[in-house]
Amino acid sequence: MKLELPRRLRRLRRTDAIRRLVRETRLDVGDLIWPLFVHDESESSSIASLPGVERHTIDSLVRCARDAETWGIPAVAIFPCIPPSLKDPDGTQGLHPDNLLYRAVRAVKKACPNLLVITDVALDPYTSHGHDGLLSADGLSVENDRTVEALCRLAVLEAQAGADIVAPSDMMDGRVGAIRAGLDAGGFFDVAILSYAVKYASALYGPFRDAVGSKIGKDAISKATYQMDVANRREARTEVDLDVAEGADIVMIKPATYFLDVIREIRDNYSVPVAAYQVSGEYSQIHAAARLGWLDYERTRDESLIAIKRSGADMILTYFAREVAEEISRGRFSR
Ligand code: PBG
Repeated sequence: MKLELPRRLRRLRRTDAIRRLVRETRLDVGDLIWPLFVHDESESSSIASLPGVERHTIDSLVRCARDAETWGIPAVAIFPCIPPSLKDPDGTQGLHPDNLLYRAVRAVKKACPNLLVITDVALDPYTSHGHDGLLSADGLSVENDRTVEALCRLAVLEAQAGADIVAPSDMMDGRVGAIRAGLDAGGFFDVAILSYAVKYASALYGPFRDAVGSKIGKDAISKATYQMDVANRREARTEVDLDVAEGADIVMIKPATYFLDVIREIRDNYSVPVAAYQVSGEYSQIHAAARLGWLDYERTRDESLIAIKRSGADMILTYFAREVAEEISRGRFSR
Protein backbone atom coordinates (compact mmCIF):
# COMPACT_ATOMS: atom_id res chain seq x y z
CA MET A 1 0.00 0.00 0.00
CA LYS A 2 1.15 3.53 -0.78
CA LEU A 3 -0.49 6.26 1.28
CA GLU A 4 -1.02 9.56 -0.47
CA LEU A 5 0.20 11.87 2.23
CA PRO A 6 0.61 15.59 1.64
CA ARG A 7 3.25 15.69 4.34
CA ARG A 8 5.67 13.09 5.58
CA LEU A 9 7.33 14.40 8.72
CA ARG A 10 9.84 11.57 8.68
CA ARG A 11 11.63 13.25 5.76
CA LEU A 12 13.11 15.70 8.23
CA ARG A 13 14.14 12.98 10.67
CA ARG A 14 16.05 10.83 8.20
CA THR A 15 19.65 11.58 9.18
CA ASP A 16 21.54 13.26 11.95
CA ALA A 17 22.39 16.15 9.61
CA ILE A 18 18.79 16.92 8.75
CA ARG A 19 17.70 16.53 12.36
CA ARG A 20 20.33 19.05 13.38
CA LEU A 21 19.10 21.43 10.70
CA VAL A 22 15.52 21.48 11.97
CA ARG A 23 16.31 21.29 15.68
CA GLU A 24 14.33 23.90 17.62
CA THR A 25 16.24 24.03 20.88
CA ARG A 26 19.92 24.02 21.63
CA LEU A 27 21.73 23.98 24.91
CA ASP A 28 24.53 26.50 25.05
CA VAL A 29 27.45 26.54 27.48
CA GLY A 30 26.36 30.09 28.25
CA ASP A 31 23.10 28.77 29.71
CA LEU A 32 24.78 26.91 32.53
CA ILE A 33 25.30 27.75 36.18
CA TRP A 34 27.41 25.30 38.20
CA PRO A 35 26.46 24.79 41.87
CA LEU A 36 29.48 23.98 44.07
CA PHE A 37 29.85 23.02 47.72
CA VAL A 38 32.69 24.17 49.94
CA HIS A 39 33.76 23.08 53.41
CA ASP A 40 36.49 24.05 55.83
CA GLU A 41 38.49 20.80 55.89
CA SER A 42 41.92 19.90 54.59
CA GLU A 43 40.56 17.49 51.96
CA SER A 44 37.56 17.49 49.65
CA SER A 45 34.96 14.85 50.46
CA SER A 46 32.43 13.00 48.36
CA ILE A 47 28.69 13.00 48.99
CA ALA A 48 27.13 9.53 48.78
CA SER A 49 23.75 10.71 47.52
CA LEU A 50 25.29 13.10 44.95
CA PRO A 51 27.68 11.01 42.85
CA GLY A 52 30.48 13.03 41.30
CA VAL A 53 29.78 16.09 43.45
CA GLU A 54 32.16 17.06 46.23
CA ARG A 55 32.42 19.28 49.22
CA HIS A 56 35.49 21.19 48.12
CA THR A 57 38.27 22.79 50.04
CA ILE A 58 38.68 26.44 49.12
CA ASP A 59 41.69 25.51 46.96
CA SER A 60 39.80 22.87 45.07
CA LEU A 61 36.82 25.23 44.74
CA VAL A 62 39.13 27.72 43.06
CA ARG A 63 40.32 24.97 40.69
CA CYS A 64 36.67 24.30 39.80
CA ALA A 65 36.17 27.99 39.15
CA ARG A 66 39.13 27.98 36.74
CA ASP A 67 37.69 24.89 35.12
CA ALA A 68 34.35 26.65 34.71
CA GLU A 69 36.15 29.49 32.92
CA THR A 70 38.04 27.06 30.73
CA TRP A 71 34.81 25.50 29.50
CA GLY A 72 32.97 28.80 29.16
CA ILE A 73 30.51 28.41 32.03
CA PRO A 74 29.48 31.97 32.96
CA ALA A 75 28.59 31.46 36.61
CA VAL A 76 29.04 29.30 39.68
CA ALA A 77 26.77 29.15 42.74
CA ILE A 78 28.64 28.51 45.99
CA PHE A 79 27.06 26.70 48.96
CA PRO A 80 28.92 26.41 52.27
CA CYS A 81 28.91 23.30 54.45
CA ILE A 82 29.49 24.49 58.02
CA PRO A 83 30.45 22.08 60.83
CA PRO A 84 27.61 21.43 63.33
CA SER A 85 29.68 23.01 66.10
CA LEU A 86 29.37 26.40 64.36
CA LYS A 87 25.61 26.21 63.90
CA ASP A 88 23.10 27.70 66.31
CA PRO A 89 19.35 28.44 66.22
CA ASP A 90 19.92 32.00 64.98
CA GLY A 91 22.50 31.12 62.34
CA THR A 92 24.91 33.70 63.75
CA GLN A 93 27.79 32.23 61.73
CA GLY A 94 26.16 33.84 58.70
CA LEU A 95 26.90 37.27 60.12
CA HIS A 96 30.57 36.57 60.68
CA PRO A 97 32.35 38.59 57.96
CA ASP A 98 35.12 36.01 57.72
CA ASN A 99 32.99 32.91 57.56
CA LEU A 100 33.61 30.07 55.14
CA LEU A 101 31.30 31.35 52.41
CA TYR A 102 32.74 34.86 52.36
CA ARG A 103 36.31 33.53 52.32
CA ALA A 104 35.37 31.18 49.48
CA VAL A 105 33.76 33.96 47.45
CA ARG A 106 36.79 36.20 47.92
CA ALA A 107 39.15 33.41 46.84
CA VAL A 108 37.13 32.63 43.70
CA LYS A 109 36.73 36.26 42.68
CA LYS A 110 40.44 36.85 43.22
CA ALA A 111 41.38 33.91 40.98
CA CYS A 112 38.62 34.42 38.39
CA PRO A 113 37.42 38.03 38.40
CA ASN A 114 35.31 37.53 35.28
CA LEU A 115 33.46 34.47 36.48
CA LEU A 116 30.09 35.37 38.01
CA VAL A 117 29.67 34.25 41.59
CA ILE A 118 26.17 33.59 42.89
CA THR A 119 25.43 33.10 46.59
CA ASP A 120 22.25 31.87 48.27
CA VAL A 121 20.69 34.27 50.72
CA ALA A 122 19.25 31.96 53.35
CA LEU A 123 20.03 30.90 56.87
CA ASP A 124 19.85 27.11 56.43
CA PRO A 125 23.63 26.51 56.12
CA TYR A 126 24.07 28.21 59.50
CA THR A 127 21.07 27.18 61.61
CA SER A 128 21.20 24.16 63.92
CA HIS A 129 17.56 23.33 63.06
CA GLY A 130 18.19 23.54 59.30
CA HIS A 131 15.47 26.09 58.57
CA ASP A 132 15.98 28.98 56.19
CA GLY A 133 14.84 31.41 58.83
CA LEU A 134 14.61 32.26 62.52
CA LEU A 135 12.22 30.41 64.77
CA SER A 136 9.63 32.16 66.96
CA ALA A 137 10.20 32.15 70.73
CA ASP A 138 7.88 29.14 71.17
CA GLY A 139 9.78 27.32 68.41
CA LEU A 140 6.57 26.60 66.52
CA SER A 141 7.02 28.76 63.44
CA VAL A 142 9.60 30.38 61.18
CA GLU A 143 9.28 34.12 61.68
CA ASN A 144 9.00 36.09 58.50
CA ASP A 145 9.96 39.67 59.25
CA ARG A 146 12.82 38.99 61.65
CA THR A 147 14.22 36.55 59.11
CA VAL A 148 14.05 39.16 56.36
CA GLU A 149 16.10 41.52 58.51
CA ALA A 150 18.78 38.84 58.91
CA LEU A 151 18.70 38.07 55.18
CA CYS A 152 19.41 41.71 54.33
CA ARG A 153 22.56 41.55 56.45
CA LEU A 154 23.63 38.30 54.78
CA ALA A 155 23.10 39.77 51.32
CA VAL A 156 25.24 42.79 52.11
CA LEU A 157 28.03 40.59 53.54
CA GLU A 158 27.89 38.43 50.41
CA ALA A 159 28.11 41.52 48.21
CA GLN A 160 31.03 42.81 50.29
CA ALA A 161 32.80 39.49 49.75
CA GLY A 162 32.39 39.96 46.00
CA ALA A 163 29.22 38.10 45.01
CA ASP A 164 27.92 39.36 41.66
CA ILE A 165 24.44 37.96 42.12
CA VAL A 166 22.63 37.17 45.35
CA ALA A 167 19.92 34.54 45.30
CA PRO A 168 17.37 34.62 48.11
CA SER A 169 16.29 30.99 48.47
CA ASP A 170 14.35 31.27 51.71
CA MET A 171 10.79 32.03 50.47
CA MET A 172 10.05 34.63 53.14
CA ASP A 173 7.52 37.27 52.07
CA GLY A 174 8.93 40.67 51.15
CA ARG A 175 12.56 39.68 51.18
CA VAL A 176 13.43 40.73 47.63
CA GLY A 177 12.41 44.35 48.21
CA ALA A 178 14.16 44.48 51.56
CA ILE A 179 17.34 42.96 50.16
CA ARG A 180 17.32 45.39 47.22
CA ALA A 181 17.00 48.30 49.62
CA GLY A 182 19.76 46.89 51.82
CA LEU A 183 22.11 46.40 48.89
CA ASP A 184 21.43 49.87 47.53
CA ALA A 185 21.96 51.45 50.95
CA GLY A 186 25.35 49.73 51.03
CA GLY A 187 26.20 51.08 47.57
CA PHE A 188 25.83 47.69 45.86
CA PHE A 189 23.64 48.94 43.03
CA ASP A 190 25.18 46.55 40.54
CA VAL A 191 24.70 43.39 42.55
CA ALA A 192 21.80 41.59 40.91
CA ILE A 193 19.05 39.61 42.61
CA LEU A 194 18.24 36.17 41.26
CA SER A 195 15.15 35.34 43.22
CA TYR A 196 14.14 31.79 44.02
CA ALA A 197 10.67 33.14 43.27
CA VAL A 198 8.92 29.83 42.69
CA LYS A 199 10.49 27.37 45.06
CA TYR A 200 8.39 24.34 45.84
CA ALA A 201 8.41 22.31 49.08
CA SER A 202 9.86 19.40 47.13
CA ALA A 203 11.12 15.97 48.14
CA LEU A 204 13.93 16.41 45.65
CA TYR A 205 16.23 18.48 47.89
CA GLY A 206 17.27 15.47 50.00
CA PRO A 207 20.79 14.98 48.59
CA PHE A 208 21.50 18.73 48.86
CA ARG A 209 20.59 18.61 52.55
CA ASP A 210 22.99 15.67 52.93
CA ALA A 211 25.65 17.79 51.28
CA VAL A 212 25.30 20.80 53.58
CA GLY A 213 24.01 18.94 56.65
CA SER A 214 20.69 20.79 56.83
CA LYS A 215 18.35 17.82 57.28
CA ILE A 216 15.21 18.74 59.18
CA GLY A 217 14.00 16.49 62.00
CA LYS A 218 10.83 14.43 61.48
CA ASP A 219 8.78 16.30 64.08
CA ALA A 220 10.11 19.72 63.17
CA ILE A 221 8.15 22.49 61.50
CA SER A 222 7.77 21.73 57.82
CA LYS A 223 9.40 23.81 55.10
CA ALA A 224 5.94 23.64 53.54
CA THR A 225 5.07 26.55 55.88
CA TYR A 226 7.13 28.79 53.58
CA GLN A 227 7.99 26.92 50.37
CA MET A 228 5.25 26.50 47.75
CA ASP A 229 2.78 23.64 47.54
CA VAL A 230 3.77 21.42 44.60
CA ALA A 231 0.13 21.28 43.50
CA ASN A 232 -0.01 25.00 42.70
CA ARG A 233 0.62 26.73 39.41
CA ARG A 234 -1.41 29.96 39.55
CA GLU A 235 0.34 30.86 42.78
CA ALA A 236 3.64 30.81 40.90
CA ARG A 237 2.47 33.88 38.99
CA THR A 238 1.63 35.69 42.19
CA GLU A 239 5.10 34.93 43.55
CA VAL A 240 6.73 36.22 40.37
CA ASP A 241 4.49 39.33 40.28
CA LEU A 242 5.61 40.25 43.77
CA ASP A 243 9.30 39.49 43.26
CA VAL A 244 9.46 41.42 40.00
CA ALA A 245 7.68 44.38 41.61
CA GLU A 246 10.15 44.23 44.50
CA GLY A 247 13.12 44.34 42.13
CA ALA A 248 14.12 40.78 41.24
CA ASP A 249 16.38 40.87 38.16
CA ILE A 250 15.99 37.16 37.38
CA VAL A 251 13.35 34.75 38.67
CA MET A 252 13.94 31.08 39.32
CA ILE A 253 11.70 28.04 39.26
CA LYS A 254 12.85 25.11 41.38
CA PRO A 255 12.90 22.13 40.96
CA ALA A 256 12.94 22.06 37.18
CA THR A 257 11.87 18.79 35.55
CA TYR A 258 8.68 18.19 37.55
CA PHE A 259 7.69 21.83 36.99
CA LEU A 260 8.20 22.38 33.27
CA ASP A 261 4.63 23.65 32.96
CA VAL A 262 5.44 26.36 35.49
CA ILE A 263 8.63 27.35 33.66
CA ARG A 264 6.60 27.71 30.46
CA GLU A 265 3.88 29.68 32.27
CA ILE A 266 6.40 32.16 33.63
CA ARG A 267 8.38 32.40 30.36
CA ASP A 268 5.19 33.20 28.42
CA ASN A 269 3.92 35.82 30.81
CA TYR A 270 6.96 37.80 31.98
CA SER A 271 9.85 39.53 30.30
CA VAL A 272 12.44 39.01 33.04
CA PRO A 273 15.03 36.26 32.48
CA VAL A 274 13.97 32.88 33.84
CA ALA A 275 16.29 30.46 35.61
CA ALA A 276 15.51 26.84 36.44
CA TYR A 277 17.28 24.76 39.08
CA GLN A 278 17.75 21.10 38.23
CA VAL A 279 18.05 20.15 41.88
CA SER A 280 20.04 17.48 43.64
CA GLY A 281 17.28 14.85 43.56
CA GLU A 282 16.83 15.24 39.82
CA TYR A 283 20.54 14.72 39.30
CA SER A 284 20.79 11.78 41.68
CA GLN A 285 17.83 9.95 40.15
CA ILE A 286 19.58 9.90 36.79
CA HIS A 287 22.79 8.63 38.36
CA ALA A 288 20.95 5.95 40.36
CA ALA A 289 19.03 4.62 37.37
CA ALA A 290 22.17 4.60 35.24
CA ARG A 291 24.10 2.75 37.94
CA LEU A 292 21.45 0.07 37.95
CA GLY A 293 21.84 -0.16 34.20
CA TRP A 294 18.24 0.87 33.72
CA LEU A 295 18.78 4.13 31.84
CA ASP A 296 21.48 5.37 29.53
CA TYR A 297 23.36 7.99 31.55
CA GLU A 298 24.39 10.48 28.84
CA ARG A 299 21.16 10.36 26.89
CA THR A 300 18.98 10.77 29.97
CA ARG A 301 21.15 13.60 31.27
CA ASP A 302 21.07 15.44 27.95
CA GLU A 303 17.34 14.89 27.48
CA SER A 304 16.62 16.30 30.94
CA LEU A 305 18.56 19.47 30.18
CA ILE A 306 17.13 20.03 26.73
CA ALA A 307 13.62 19.58 28.18
CA ILE A 308 14.28 22.30 30.74
CA LYS A 309 15.61 24.61 28.03
CA ARG A 310 12.69 23.80 25.69
CA SER A 311 10.20 24.62 28.43
CA GLY A 312 11.54 28.20 28.40
CA ALA A 313 14.40 28.46 30.87
CA ASP A 314 17.06 31.00 29.88
CA MET A 315 19.58 29.53 32.29
CA ILE A 316 19.89 26.29 34.20
CA LEU A 317 21.57 25.55 37.51
CA THR A 318 22.74 21.96 37.23
CA TYR A 319 25.29 19.69 38.88
CA PHE A 320 25.94 18.39 35.36
CA ALA A 321 27.23 21.81 34.27
CA ARG A 322 30.95 21.02 34.12
CA GLU A 323 30.69 17.73 32.22
CA VAL A 324 27.97 18.98 29.89
CA ALA A 325 29.94 22.14 29.07
CA GLU A 326 32.80 19.92 28.01
CA GLU A 327 30.50 17.67 25.96
CA ILE A 328 28.96 20.68 24.20
CA SER A 329 32.39 22.15 23.46
CA ARG A 330 33.59 18.87 22.01
CA GLY A 331 30.40 18.47 19.97
CA ARG A 332 29.41 15.37 21.92
CA PHE A 333 26.25 16.63 23.55
CA SER A 334 23.73 14.09 22.33
CA ARG A 335 21.01 16.59 21.42
C1 PBG B 1 18.57 26.35 50.76
C2 PBG B 1 18.60 25.67 49.45
C3 PBG B 1 18.15 24.38 49.16
C4 PBG B 1 18.51 24.12 47.85
C5 PBG B 1 19.15 25.27 47.35
N1 PBG B 1 19.19 26.22 48.36
C6 PBG B 1 17.52 23.35 50.02
C7 PBG B 1 16.32 23.64 50.80
O1 PBG B 1 15.58 24.57 50.55
O2 PBG B 1 16.12 22.89 51.77
C8 PBG B 1 18.28 22.83 47.15
C9 PBG B 1 19.10 22.57 45.95
C10 PBG B 1 19.18 21.15 45.53
O3 PBG B 1 18.44 20.26 46.02
O4 PBG B 1 20.02 20.86 44.67
N2 PBG B 1 17.67 27.34 50.94
